[in-house]
Amino acid sequence: MPSRHHLLCILSPSLSLVFFFFFLLSFHGGHSAFPTICESQSQCGNISIKYPFSTVSDAPVYCGYPQLRISCPDVDNPPTISLPGDTYLVTEINYVEETLTLVDIDVADRICPRASHNLTINSLPLGYNSADVNLTFFFNCSTPPLAPNPARAIDCLRSGDNQSYVFVNMSPDEAAAIREAWGCEEAVVAAVKRTEVTAANGGDELAGAMSEGFALDWAAVRECGACEHSGGRCAFNQNEQLLCFCEDGSNHTDGSFCKVARDLISGILRCFSSF
Ligand SMILES: *[C@@H]1O[C@H](CO)[C@@H](O)[C@H](O)[C@H]1NC(C)=O
Ligand SMILES: *[C@@H]1O[C@H](CO)[C@@H](O)[C@H](O)[C@H]1NC(C)=O
Ligand SMILES: *[C@@H]1O[C@H](CO)[C@@H](O)[C@H](O)[C@H]1NC(C)=O
Ligand SMILES: *[C@@H]1O[C@H](CO)[C@@H](O)[C@H](O)[C@H]1NC(C)=O
Ligand SMILES: *[C@@H]1O[C@H](CO)[C@@H](O)[C@H](O)[C@H]1NC(C)=O
Ligand SMILES: *[C@@H]1O[C@H](CO)[C@@H](O)[C@H](O)[C@H]1NC(C)=O
Repeated sequence: MPSRHHLLCILSPSLSLVFFFFFLLSFHGGHSAFPTICESQSQCGNISIKYPFSTVSDAPVYCGYPQLRISCPDVDNPPTISLPGDTYLVTEINYVEETLTLVDIDVADRICPRASHNLTINSLPLGYNSADVNLTFFFNCSTPPLAPNPARAIDCLRSGDNQSYVFVNMSPDEAAAIREAWGCEEAVVAAVKRTEVTAANGGDELAGAMSEGFALDWAAVRECGACEHSGGRCAFNQNEQLLCFCEDGSNHTDGSFCKVARDLISGILRCFSSF
C-alpha cells in the first residue's frame, strides 16, 4: 500500500501541472506587462536609460526607483540626476555591474574645480563603489600650520594669504578638528576614483580628479535585491516602505517577494525525486 506521502505526490504533480500551465500563461502575458506600462528604454546622449532608472517624472513606481529619476535635456547633452545636495552628470550606466558614474555638475570641465556640496546618499537606494576614495577639502584656511604640512595645497584656489587643502580618506572627526585648528571657512567631502588619485601629482591635480567622477552601486541595495531576484521590481513608498511589484500584477509590502514560480517548481521536483 502506498504511503500517505506518495499518494499526495501522485495527486500534487497533476495539480501542480495545472497551476504551472496557468503560471506559464500568466508569465507569458505578464512578461510584457512592465515594458508596456512603463516607458521602454530611452536614449539620452550616449547613455541608454532603462529600469531601475527612468526619465519620466510621473511614471508608476514600479517603472524605476523614484529617487533614480534621470533628466534628459536633449539628445546632444548628457543626462543629469539630482541627489541630495547637488546635481550630477551621469556619464556612464553599467547595467551588468550595476554601477553608475557621476560627475558633480559644479566641477565638470573646470580647470580649477572646487567641490561645493557633500553628497549624502543614506536615503537613496545607492551605495559607494569600492573603486572610490573620499577627498576632504578645506577651503580658505587662514591659520594653517607651517611646513611640513601633511595635506596637499591646492595652489589654484589660493585667495590672498588663505590656502586650500585636500586630504585623502580622512575621518569626519579628524576633518572637524582640522577645520577648527586651521581656521578654514568650509570643509567638503567628495568621492573620486581611486585610480585618478593614484595618478594625481599635487593638490591641483588631486582636485582635478573630481572631473573624472565616481561610481555608485545600486545592486543588493537593502531588500531590493531579493525582490528583483524573484523577478519583481522594487520601489519605495512615501514612508520608505519597500514595495515589491510582481509581473502578475500583485505587490508585496510585507517583505515577501514574487517567488511563486520557484516554490512551485521546487515543489514538483521534490515530489518527483521522492519516488
Ligand atoms: C559619446 O561618446 C563618445 C565616445 O565615447 C564621446 O566622445 C562623446 O562626447 C559622447 N557624447 C555625449 C553626448 O556624451
Ligand atoms: C566616504 O564617505 C562616506 C560618507 O561620507 C562613507 O560612507 C564612505 O564609506 C567613505 N568611503 C571611504 C572609502 O572611506
Ligand atoms: C575664499 O574667500 C574669498 C572671499 O570671501 C572668496 O572669494 C573665495 O572664493 C574663497 N575661496 C574658496 C576656495 O572658497
Ligand atoms: C561635509 O562633511 C564633513 C565631514 O563629514 C563636515 O566636516 C563638513 O562640515 C560637511 N560640509 C558641509 C558643507 O556640510
Ligand atoms: C580668508 O578666509 C576667511 C575665512 O577663513 C575669510 O573670512 C576671508 O575673507 C578670506 N580672505 C580672502 C582674501 O580670501
Ligand atoms: C498593491 O496591491 C493592492 C491590492 O493588493 C492595491 O490595492 C494597491 O493599489 C497596490 N499598490 C500599488 C501602488 O499599485
